[in-house]
Amino acid sequence: MINYSGKKVLVTGSAGFIGSHLTEELLKAGAKVRAFVRYTSSRDIGLLKKIDKNLLAKVDFYFGDLRDIQSVRDAMKDFDMVFHLGALIGVPYSFFHSHEVIINNIKSTLNILESAKELKTEKIIITSTSEVYGTAEFSPITEKHPLNPQSPYSASKIASDSVAMSYYYALEMPITILRPFNTFGPRQSLRAVIPTIISQALLKDEIELGRIDTKRDFTYIKDTVKGFMLTGLSQDSIGKTINLGTGKTQSIEEIVKTVENILGKKLKIKVSESRMRPGKSEVELLLASYEKAKNILGWSPSFLFEEGLRLTVDYIKNNLDEYNISNYVI
Ligand SMILES: NC(=O)c1ccc[n+]([C@@H]2O[C@H](COP(=O)([O-])OP(=O)(O)OC[C@H]3O[C@@H](n4cnc5c(N)ncnc54)[C@H](O)[C@@H]3O)[C@@H](O)[C@H]2O)c1
Repeated sequence: MINYSGKKVLVTGSAGFIGSHLTEELLKAGAKVRAFVRYTSSRDIGLLKKIDKNLLAKVDFYFGDLRDIQSVRDAMKDFDMVFHLGALIGVPYSFFHSHEVIINNIKSTLNILESAKELKTEKIIITSTSEVYGTAEFSPITEKHPLNPQSPYSASKIASDSVAMSYYYALEMPITILRPFNTFGPRQSLRAVIPTIISQALLKDEIELGRIDTKRDFTYIKDTVKGFMLTGLSQDSIGKTINLGTGKTQSIEEIVKTVENILGKKLKIKVSESRMRPGKSEVELLLASYEKAKNILGWSPSFLFEEGLRLTVDYIKNNLDEYNISNYVI
């Protein structure tokens, strides 16, 4: 059992997929959690609506924008630790809105680092992504793999990681970069491939997809969150970049087959041009080495892919009204 009692923790991107699960688990582990949520006039709390009501009542909400240093500094004041997950994450979206994605992701990270410097925050966890590696030059991918940006999203994350490391090298700030490979599970939106497959499979017999031969290393959300929580308490992780992945891959076609087995239903795949990534941006294979996470954090994944997929199918089945497949484009 990971114990956060007495810790005051800020989570950015808290209303998002990974952030909402992380917020929930931190609260269960006894942390005082402040959720940084992007301000809108409706004060929408996004996926935090899905967490247990008793836990939700304990969340300390901070509404603002991560691009605004005033908000970030104010939110981080008197907090021991920051898990920085807030980012614009759509790979295809990043081609059509490259200024927005690049400025948002880099500036948000810079604001976290500058505020942490000033406030002497005890631990800063910056969220990277396996997309920074591009198509694998060797597999499994260790943290020493070259960084090959194949999208503005990936470039924004490489730049953010690099800025974070400069604060570690120059100022010895207590920073860790976590690099999750694809994460999946309940609450994930149709932006991601697994909910896209499951929701279509539940509603019809034909599934429209982009490339089906690409392979990814999929970690179940509870394992990813465990990696974040172990990092928050680890002194040995300071100054390190650490992959979180399972060391196994699934092709998109294989996921469809597993969904067929779970649902007991035959599915036809229709490959659609509109769902392809542009140009040469497609990353063919991402397979993680998680040796470093095992050695430094004592982390290893505990969910089998099919087990996580069953839990995700159950969630989408019970919340199908939120998965309107006609909304899915990028
Ligand atoms: N989901 C994955 O498979 C995966 C894999 C690797 C890395 N990551 C990283 O993990 C983090 C979380 O991903 P997710 O899947 O939960 O994404 P998500 O889109 O569900 O959540 C991201 C959250 O960040 C918030 N945000 C973005 N810009 C903001 C701003 N300027 N001010 C305030 N809030 C802002 C969004 O509103 C959203 O709630 C991201 O940094 C992403 O790059 C995700």
